[in-house]
Amino acid sequence: MKILGIETSCDETAVAIARFEDDRIEIDSSLISSQIDIHRQYGGVVPEVAAREHMKTLIPMLENAMSSVLGWSSDGRPDIDYIAITTGPGLITSLLAGTETARSLSFAWGIPLIPVNHIIGHIAASLIGRNLSSIDFPAVVLTVSGGHTILALMKDFSSVEILGETRDDAAGEAFDKAAKMLGIGYPGGPAISRLAKSSVGKVAMLPRPMIDSPDFDFSFSGLKTALLYELKKDASWESKIPDYCREYEQAIVDVLVSKTIKAATKNNARTVILSGGVASNERLRVDLTGTMGRKLPDTALILTDKAYTTDNAAMIAAAGCLLAGTKTPASWRELKANSNESLGLR
Ligand code: KG4
Ligand code: ZN
Repeated sequence: MKILGIETSCDETAVAIARFEDDRIEIDSSLISSQIDIHRQYGGVVPEVAAREHMKTLIPMLENAMSSVLGWSSDGRPDIDYIAITTGPGLITSLLAGTETARSLSFAWGIPLIPVNHIIGHIAASLIGRNLSSIDFPAVVLTVSGGHTILALMKDFSSVEILGETRDDAAGEAFDKAAKMLGIGYPGGPAISRLAKSSVGKVAMLPRPMIDSPDFDFSFSGLKTALLYELKKDASWESKIPDYCREYEQAIVDVLVSKTIKAATKNNARTVILSGGVASNERLRVDLTGTMGRKLPDTALILTDKAYTTDNAAMIAAAGCLLAGTKTPASWRELKANSNESLGLR
């Protein structure tokens, strides 16, 4: 089975082609056009600008991806079985650029659509290149991105149940807002993590919000405020930016690791999965690996390949591969974007 994936939910235009064979999802092409340089000047994503960029780049990218890896049948249809498309959550104008393109292609080619929830896409990204029959359930999944911080329980590939999520800012958003405060650029996660590596001194310890709460929820907005107060108190903070970055990063990582281990223990997880843009963070990958090794040595750990952590379309095509067998594909008449789409395999 071959699936074309399209992702335009925020500020990356992405197109990918996945092949599902012998219980394994392989990616034949994955193209991403990032708008980061355009939005950097505003310090964040401007929805109207993002949508215009998607409209400009999507068709040329589709042409590139498809001409390099796909054959065409004699009736002019490409050699694909489905088109997987992100329907939400995300910025509505960005989502519409993708869904309307996918609907047009589906109409023209007569190829059915598979609507994909963006979060399910992040989770599916962790499975790329792995033998699916080797994954042991239940799995506890931590998905951390710019828009979401979710701990979920998967009993199999078609059931995802939310255990907890952030009550305010997402982990990636917490990185982005702190980086803005420190004046070190956008997106904040990579900037904070890069500077943290050159930290040589210590600053006051920041809180680890909700680390001991009995639930699996998170809260990061207080951490951002705590950093702001520390900076206000410290007249020479500008000379200690790497130290503040290190402490801030560690505070977020400590909470994420601790809650994930607790959720995995409570649910007797056989596998723990880390996915989403913040899963690129090296400190998080190292600390989760180390803590799992000490506390849950018999539980498998899957860290999403770094090529597929931040937004991409390979993850949407991969989710399409998982969903193709479990749900009825949509026709172009039915498909709708939904900016608040809740997590679910539908
Ligand atoms: O998954 P993603 O590309 O988009 C959303 O679905 O939101 O995640 C983007 C987020 C941004 O907030 C960015 O700062 C964060 O992921 N991020 C990181 C790192 N790389 C990206 N956060 C911490 N450390 C990183 N290395
Ligand atoms: Zn994302």
